[in-house]
Formats: sequence, C-alpha cells, structure tokens
Amino acid sequence: MKDYDRKRRQFLQYLLAGTAAAAFPGFGLAQDRRMLNAKPDPNFKPDVEIEFVAQLAEVPILPGPSTSVFRYDGKVLKGPQAALLKSAPGYLGPIMNLVQGQKVRIFYYNKLPEPSIMHWHGMHVPQKMDGHPMYAIEPGERYVYEFEVKNPAGTNWYHAHPHEMTGPQVYRGQAGLITIRDEQERKLDLPDGEYDLPLTIQDRRFTAGNQLQYIFGMHERMTGFLGDTILVNGRADAIIPVKTRAYRIRVFNGSNSRIYKLGWEDGTPLTAIGTDGGLLEDPQTFPYIMLAPAERVELWVDFSGRKPGTDLMLRSLEYDFPQMGMGMGGGMEMHGGMGRGRMGGRGGMGMGTGRLPQGKDFPIVRFHIVEKIGESPELPKRLVKMRNLTEKDVANPGRPVPIAASMEHMSPLLNSASFEMDEVMDIERIPVNTIQKVRITNEHGSMGSGMGGRGPMGGRMGGMRGGMGMMMLPHPIHMHGQQFRIISRKLKDGNMDSYATVRDGFINSGWKDTVLVMPNEEIDVIKPFEDYTGLFLYHCHNLEHEDLGMMRNFYVS
Ligand code: C2O
Ligand code: CU
Ligand code: CU
Repeated sequence: MKDYDRKRRQFLQYLLAGTAAAAFPGFGLAQDRRMLNAKPDPNFKPDVEIEFVAQLAEVPILPGPSTSVFRYDGKVLKGPQAALLKSAPGYLGPIMNLVQGQKVRIFYYNKLPEPSIMHWHGMHVPQKMDGHPMYAIEPGERYVYEFEVKNPAGTNWYHAHPHEMTGPQVYRGQAGLITIRDEQERKLDLPDGEYDLPLTIQDRRFTAGNQLQYIFGMHERMTGFLGDTILVNGRADAIIPVKTRAYRIRVFNGSNSRIYKLGWEDGTPLTAIGTDGGLLEDPQTFPYIMLAPAERVELWVDFSGRKPGTDLMLRSLEYDFPQMGMGMGGGMEMHGGMGRGRMGGRGGMGMGTGRLPQGKDFPIVRFHIVEKIGESPELPKRLVKMRNLTEKDVANPGRPVPIAASMEHMSPLLNSASFEMDEVMDIERIPVNTIQKVRITNEHGSMGSGMGGRGPMGGRMGGMRGGMGMMMLPHPIHMHGQQFRIISRKLKDGNMDSYATVRDGFINSGWKDTVLVMPNEEIDVIKPFEDYTGLFLYHCHNLEHEDLGMMRNFYVS
C-alpha cells in the first residue's frame, strides 16, 4: 500500500511537471494493466499465430529421476508449422522461426504458480508487445502479443521478465531461441537445415535427486548464480555428431551470470559471421570470443579436413575474473587471478563461489566427426549490407546518454538508481525517432560504509554490520528496442593484465543488444530509438543483478 502511494505521488508529480498521463500508459491498478492485452485486435491480420503455455513439467535432464522445471510449450495455430521447432525433450522452449515482415500473433498463457510475462529479447516491437514487467499476468491469465517482425536475419531469444523473478524463472526453463530469416540472408546460401545448429549454453546446479538448485545466499546473489553443470541445448555432457563440412552454429549464452570465453581446444581460431542482432558485413576471426549472458554469436565452423572418429571440443578458456571477497565487519579484497580469492564461509553466509568459478577453464561441448562427405560450401567473403550508423547521425554528440553501472551498499545500480516500474529520470527521456549516443561505464560505487539503507539488499541485510569495499564486477548491459552499434571501448584505468585476458574476444562490429562492460571500461554505442514510443528497459543481464534492481526505463516520446 505504501509503495502504491509513493508511486501515485510520483505520478502526480509528473502530471504537475506537465507530463501527459499518456506518458505512463502502464500506470494504474494492476488489474487495468492485465486486462490491457487479453484480447486479439480484429484489425491485425496475422501471418502466423502461435500459442505459448508456460507451465510446470517433469523432464529428463540427467540420468535418473526427472527434474521439475518451468517450461514453455508451444504450438502453431495458424500459418507455417515450421514457425515452431520442438527442442529436444528438456526444459528449453521450442525454437521460434520467423521471417522478416511476418505479422505474428502470440497467445501466451501463464500456468505457472506465479506471475510472469514473456519478452522477445533483441526484437524491435512496441512497448505493449515487449513484455515489460508491468504487464506481468497472474496464474491462469492470458496475454496477447501482436507485432510485425522488423529485425533482419539473426538469432534472438524469448524469456520470462517479471519483476524480481526473472532470474529464477529463466533458470527453471523459461527461455527459448528465435531465428529470423530475410532476403539478404537467403541469397548467401548459408548452411541450412541440419547444418544450421543452435547451441544454447547454460550452467545449472542439481541436488542428488536431480532437482534444480538456485541461489545459496547473499554472496551469490551479489555476484550472480553460478552452476557446476554445463548444459548445452538442455543436456549435460553434450556430444554433437557432425559431418566433414561447414556449419552455421548459433551460440547463445542463456546462463544467468556466467561469462564464457569460447575457444577451440586445439587453438583453431573462431570465425564469427553474426552477433546479437544479425549477420556481420564480413566474417571475422578471433582467437577466442567472450560471450556474456544474453549475448549471441553465430559461428562458421568448418569440419572438412577432419577425420571421422575424431573430436573437436569447444571450451571456456581461463581468464581473470575480478573475485569478490567479503569481510564481515571489514573491507573487502579484490583478487585479480582465478582461484586466489579467499571465499571462506566465515559467518555462515554462503560466500563460496562453488566448484566452477568464473574464469576457470572447462569443456562446453564435444563435436564428434561421424561421417566424411564430399561437398562443403565456401565461406562468403561478404555477408550483408548494414545500415551505416556513425557519430554524424547522432542527436547528442557532446552529451551521451549515460548508463553508469555501479555497486553501492550491496545494491547493483544504474545511474545511481534502482528499478522503478514506471518512473524515469530526465536523462532517461529520449525523443522518438532520434539516434542517440549512449555511454556505458562501470564505476566504483561508494566505499564500505554500512549496509543499511537503500536498495533491496539494504533492507534484507538489516542487522548486519560491516562494509563492502570496492566491488567491481563485469556487467552485461542490455537495452530493449532496437539494436545498437559499438563505436568505441576503452579501459579508463584498472588492471591491464587482467583485461588482456579478455580483450581480444570482444566483437565490436555488428548489431548488439547486450554488451559486456568490464570494470573501469567505457563503451560508447549508437542506438536508434525509432518507430515506437513508451517505456523501454535497459538493465544488467546478469539476472541476479537485474532482479536486485539493476534495471531502469528509457521513456521514448
Ligand atoms: Cu533479455 Cu530485459 O531482457
Ligand atoms: Cu531484452
Ligand atoms: Cu550486473
């Protein structure tokens, strides 16, 4: 009730400040919000109609007992059946295959025991179709989405997006891939059908009875969930049979907080042909590729020349991750290297990082060459023509929109603030149909004073004395709406040696919707805010950070 009153007051303040009521289309009683999109629009003529049901399921993941999960089940009600591809039995949602220009209607039924809402990550859709947490529906309710596919060919994904529950719901299975095709891509004749492979990478933790375990405690909430079992396309110890030819592999990091440093075990460089938002202008090779939560990279992988019977392992290679130590009643320590962090469980707070800390080397998936075949397509030299976006196009060259990530008093913040459902600051107001420069930074918050006070953790930490000193973690920053381009990234200060273990793995060309910002890094991007007005989220895609309030709204008008 108090919360409601406070929101109401803020809303009135906006009215007084001359902001039209229409500025906050989501504002009102929860009931109004939910009724907003329960019915299809008779004037919208869909090419594809899909039904998604979010529900409890028991699925086989590990040998032995099945695992209870939250799964999306889907079916095509109208249009091409290929619009949905069932994934292997497990917890991943079906792969949605869309075509640019298609009109899509989706009936979403929440049969979970808690509120939820679906979001189409990476896609450019109107506010009401974007799955903002203010539209979360209760168990038993329905939400209808209707939008036109505007994105170019590429790999996006869908997932649950309710306030403070995105982490646990995605963890239990509320996620699936979206592929989009278009004319430009068709002309390239890229590997298709069985040679076009999805590769969803996630880390999970299981009990002895094969049930999913989530967060253990405070420390893990602050750093993000880390599991010790790597699942690929929903399976543990995945082996993928391949033939001696080129494949298109759509790698997607569907983990809550784990950052992978993708590399072939034999040192072969990786060839990227696409990023979050679509294909690149031309293929690029990397010694390794950093893939943060929510990021996608499309690889061209050529197995021709390899011997049947042999294997090629994709690994996550070692890198320096800023370890976070936490002292009770003291400051905290930062450790540059892997395995040097002292994470003793002093004070019984569950401070361990588990058996598979960030930055450790481990296998992800084994490709097993099963068959020699004669023909393999050539890697095209040029891929697609991209809309050219430069500094000259931006409306605010000297005044970039800030996204400052920081940690203060146990709260991960953006622009020094926590999430508010429908509140925006002046710096978060964006004129529609403009192209903006956005500067993303990762800074020190205030140092180790007490922990009471602001932010969600402040509240929960109530009686605890002590301090958090410097705490700087990498943050995968995501913006809803249109994809952006990276124009510069630099390390402002900090540990060059640590940075050197990751820096050659960032893909800075191509369309992005999520970018990993390392401690002390400053990244400038250019993002169009076109076509749609309303509230569009930006947040850290470390899902535990997001749930702790590391999320804000842009208000486009
Ligand atoms: Cu993956 Cu707010 O999104
Ligand atoms: Cu998103
Ligand atoms: Cu974060």
